[in-house]
Amino acid sequence: MPDEPLLRLDGVDAFYGKSHALRGVSLEVHAGEIVALLGLNGAGKTTTLRTIMGLLPPRAGTIRLRGRRIDGMPAHRVARLGVGYVPEGRRMFANLTAGENLELAERPGGEWSIQRVFERFPKLRELRGRKAGKLSGGEQEMLAIGRALVGSPALLLIDEPSQGLGPIIVTDVYRTLAELRAGGVAILLVEQNALLALRVAERAYVLDDGRVVYAGAGADLARDRARIGTLMGLPSDELPVS
Ligand SMILES: Nc1ncnc2c1ncn2[C@@H]1O[C@H](COP(=O)(O)OP(=O)(O)OP(=O)(O)O)[C@@H](O)[C@H]1O
Ligand SMILES: [Mg+2]
Repeated sequence: MPDEPLLRLDGVDAFYGKSHALRGVSLEVHAGEIVALLGLNGAGKTTTLRTIMGLLPPRAGTIRLRGRRIDGMPAHRVARLGVGYVPEGRRMFANLTAGENLELAERPGGEWSIQRVFERFPKLRELRGRKAGKLSGGEQEMLAIGRALVGSPALLLIDEPSQGLGPIIVTDVYRTLAELRAGGVAILLVEQNALLALRVAERAYVLDDGRVVYAGAGADLARDRARIGTLMGLPSDELPVS
């Protein structure tokens, strides 16, 4: 199929026990785009990423990567097919060094060697001997992105990269995401700060209670001040000007 998206979910349902977390989620990510996945706390954003990654098997629906079914595959196979995951809270091996965290994740012979990651993030080269647990939040986010990159992904799933970071570091992280896209990596970006995500995302989806309630252009969503206000928990006249 010529126009097959890189990633495609169709009617995905997922449960935690009896709790119905995703209800018929359908979405697409095309090669070379950043897609924002937004929604209030508990909407199902993290669950969507975990389900794509194979950490939570869907109970219904299909997930395709370049047309190939990946639902039901374990996470290590999904990773090998080219999906990188940067989880909420970053989840480093705190007692290992930054360099060791990268070595554990590297896919030898892949497009992104550790050396290339160091060239892209000179700061990580400087920090490679430091225990991951001793890094600042921004440094850990860079390491988490670096760790996903050494798996040479075509698609990165990123969960709340700005969480707990100061504004300057957030700008740096977002610049990195835009550069990765320019380098051919597609990104499915989960973010609480909707306006921030919509500054880089071509397209966006909004989840509410496990359902997709908006699918469309990021810029159109950014102009819907009432909806953005709801998403960000702010009256629309108090929203920052984007
Ligand atoms: N491990 C779990 N066990 C049981 N229920 C869970 C678990 N993780 C999430 N849930 C429930 O599934 C639903 C979706 O949660 P999810 O973490 O995907 O939301 P989210 O959109 O990522 O929220 P947040 O913005 O708070 O990170 C919520 O109702 C949540 O309580
Ligand atoms: Mg979450």
